[in-house]
Amino acid sequence: MNFTFRIPQWLTRWLLRSLTARAKRAPYFHLAGYMNRWWLVPYTEAGSVTDIGCGPVSPWRRPLAWVMQRLGFAARIHEILRSDRDRVLHDHPWPYLAIILKGGYYEVTEENSLAWYRPGSVLVRGIEHRHRLMLPTAPFGEQPATTLFITGRYAQKWGFFTPEGKVPYDEYLAAKHVAASPVKPAPKPPQKKRRPARPAGKEQRP
Ligand SMILES: [Fe+2]
Repeated sequence: MNFTFRIPQWLTRWLLRSLTARAKRAPYFHLAGYMNRWWLVPYTEAGSVTDIGCGPVSPWRRPLAWVMQRLGFAARIHEILRSDRDRVLHDHPWPYLAIILKGGYYEVTEENSLAWYRPGSVLVRGIEHRHRLMLPTAPFGEQPATTLFITGRYAQKWGFFTPEGKVPYDEYLAAKHVAASPVKPAPKPPQKKRRPARPAGKEQRP
């Protein structure tokens, strides 16, 4: 169920103005240097310690958001700051719909195709869809993109598609970390004030 269509520029501009202003009131967990994220319709409950700003919304104050939550949808604004770094493709835990509001990106899919999506593009993607995103190059680095990102019900643990098959995201990232660690031990960092340990969470959502 993967398809793409376009909405008019005036509607794209209106969504950008109205939704980003609304979303900035409810930050989600930002992925430093990669993606900033704000809630429009949060998850009804936190699934991990990084699920900031989750909880049920009021049916009286936000009826549309309430209906979306009941149907299993969540929505947020994404500001994508850099391309996906892994050459292998990944999938997502839910089906989703993304509307490009500002900037744009290339989507690389398993057919080895590269497609450009500009403001007004609406991408509907099923859970079987695999991809990686690339931002266009600007004079001083990559040009960020802003999207409205709507997710459906949780369906699977997401992961990366290596030549050996799908590897769950936590195993893949942990293995990458080990592979990237220096042979020579790094010097100890300066002592910092200790923070209280965070409680162990469940699966981290991308
Ligand atoms: Fe992705």
